[in-house]
Amino acid sequence: MEKREKIYEGKAKIVYSTDDPDLIIQYFKDDTTAFNAAKRGTVINKGIINNKISAKVFEFLSSEGIPTQYEQRLSDREMLIKRVEIVPVEVIVRNKAAGSFCRILGFEEGMELASHVLEFCYKRDDLNDPLINEYHIRALNLASEEEVETMKRYTIKINELMSTFLANLNLELIDFKLEFGRYKGEIILADEISPDTCRLWEVGTGEKFDKDRFRHDMGDIEEAYQEVLSRVEK
Ligand code: C5P
Repeated sequence: MEKREKIYEGKAKIVYSTDDPDLIIQYFKDDTTAFNAAKRGTVINKGIINNKISAKVFEFLSSEGIPTQYEQRLSDREMLIKRVEIVPVEVIVRNKAAGSFCRILGFEEGMELASHVLEFCYKRDDLNDPLINEYHIRALNLASEEEVETMKRYTIKINELMSTFLANLNLELIDFKLEFGRYKGEIILADEISPDTCRLWEVGTGEKFDKDRFRHDMGDIEEAYQEVLSRVEK
């Protein structure tokens, strides 16, 4: 398998083609952004850490029967993945109130929810990924009815699997974002799962081990990400 030309460069990753039309290489950068790129920075070694964490999480989810884009980790910063057509809808799960949920609805961070919340966002950087619902998805033909049902089913299963997996590492999964892709007519899990895309709080103390440390200038970002990796690798 040979690495070929750069196809796309995003905020935190670069994608390269390979000599296999079904496979691409995802390269994890140290660059980090928040609040829809209004805040930018670099977290030393973040790309290496997130590549390793995401590989472990995708391997775990695959072993539990979730179809994913992940093939294998190639190097410190590179991961081989299936080439998918990304569904332009981000799926967010919330187990406790935090982030934009608190900002929009006026609740206290950390508030318990009677049940988990599923949200959809339209994947459009220029519009700051606005919140949408299933009517928008249908009206705008962003995904078929069947694809939405599949994404919801996988998302709820992934929330259960990851919440248990992380609880065993003394981390509480507060919320996270998923992306899905179309591959040979099927919906599969895509992108990455890492402290950039999840809120992870230490059970008991509520200490944050995720991108909120960058968003709110809390310091020790690399150390927090590294701690998540060492727990995931145990
Ligand atoms: O900012 P908000 O509270 O809506 O984020 C919910 C969860 O989704 C957080 O874990 C955040 O890191 C993740 N997220 C993401 N990419 C986005 C939006 C949110 O990974 N574009």
